[in-house]
Parts: sequence; structure tokens; C-alpha cells
Amino acid sequence: MEELYPRSHIEIDGTLARYYEQLLNLITLGKYSKFIENAIQAMDIQPEDRILDLGAGTGYNAEYMVKYLNTGGRILGLDISRVGIERFRNKFQTNPSVRVENRRVDKPLPYDSEFDKVLTSFVIHGLPHPARENLIKNAFKALKPGGKFFILDYGEFELSELPLHVRFPFRAAECEYAFDYISRDWKAILVDFGFSPTGNQKYFDGFTRLLEAKKQSG
Ligand SMILES: C[S@@+](CC[C@H](N)C(=O)[O-])C[C@H]1O[C@@H](n2cnc3c(N)ncnc32)[C@H](O)[C@@H]1O
Repeated sequence: MEELYPRSHIEIDGTLARYYEQLLNLITLGKYSKFIENAIQAMDIQPEDRILDLGAGTGYNAEYMVKYLNTGGRILGLDISRVGIERFRNKFQTNPSVRVENRRVDKPLPYDSEFDKVLTSFVIHGLPHPARENLIKNAFKALKPGGKFFILDYGEFELSELPLHVRFPFRAAECEYAFDYISRDWKAILVDFGFSPTGNQKYFDGFTRLLEAKKQSG
């Protein structure tokens, strides 16, 4: 995997990508899968939705999203992790509606007004800000007018507000970009890129959240 941002902690591959979900369930004492299930439910996925998942990893979120689709629905995941892509393909080898491609989400993408929903889950916090802006531009362009962009990631908070048992692991595990991410006004950023914020569902007391924004039509 080509690493463009050596100081980022999201360009994961190898063993970490292989055991990603298990590790997160361990760290959250088994709460991770329920959290993802609830967040995906909050996306209000319709049976024929076309969904683009930016930084789709091993297809863990896609496993929850696909349950809402009928044969007309589609999921396209993009990622750069060799192990992540291999695991994603193995999970959906019998379902041609769910595919993954090896593409960077912070470089211009070819999709234009094709998707009803774009999700990015625990990717954007780990990118330098100009790369995040490229990801947001990609999401905007890929969405149909009126389509929804979902950012599932950390909330906005001061590190000092976190309880100690969360603050220390966050400080130890996260990269400098994540510290920058939690301090920004993400609704305002999305407005600057032509979105109107439509939802802000908090989980784990606001430590994580599902931010939802609509691509303005016209
Ligand atoms: C923390 S994992 C999250 C995976 C998945 N979205 C989830 O929530 O389970 C971050 C993922 O982003 C991918 N990634 C990091 N930088 C990327 C980039 N520039 N383009 C595409 N994928 C990227 C990594 O390979 C990894 O699979």
C-alpha cells in the first residue's frame, strides 16, 4: 500500500486490517458492533440506494448496509489496503451488488451524480486537512442532487473534557490529524462545500457521531 501520510494512523494494512473489527470490539468491551448497527440504521437506507463507501476497509459497514438493500441496490467501497480489499472481496464474493475498488479517496474520483448516499467511516479524522477537503469534494460530486453524505467519526470535543479512561487511549493511539479533527466545526466546513447539514447523531456521549448532510439540488 502506498502511504502518502506517514504520520497518519489510518493507512492500515497487514495484521491490523486483518483483525480490525475484533480489535475494536475488544477495546470497546463488545460495544463496537452495536454502535455500527445503530449508526447504519440511522442512515435510513432505502432498498434501491446506490451507496459509495470512502475508505471501506474490510467491508464491515457494508455488511450492515447491505441488509437494507434489495437486488436494485448497490454498494461500492473504495480503499487502498491490500488486506482490507481482500477481506472485503471474500465477504461479498457471492453478491455482485457489493464491490470494492483500489482507489485513493483523497485524489479526484471519476463518479459524478451517481450515488444516493456516500459514507466515510473513521477515515477523515486521520487525513491532513487538504486531503479531507479533497474527500469532501469527491463525495459532493459523486452524489445525486439531494443525496446524503454521512461522516461516521469522532465528535467535536476538547481532549480535557474526556473521561480519563477514554482520554489516555485516544492520546496514545491517535495521530496529530485526529487532534486537529476534533477541534474543527464540521457543519460549517460541509456548508462551505455546498452541503446542508441534516443530522448529528451522537454515540458514546458524543465521543463519536454520525454527521449527515444533504447535497443541495441546483
Ligand atoms: C480506520 S479504517 C476504517 C475502515 C472502515 N471505514 C470502517 O469503519 O470499518 C481506515 C481505512 O481507510 C483506508 N484509507 C486510508 N487512507 C485512505 C485513502 N487515502 N484512500 C482510500 N482509503 C484509505 C485504510 O486502508 C483503512 O481501511
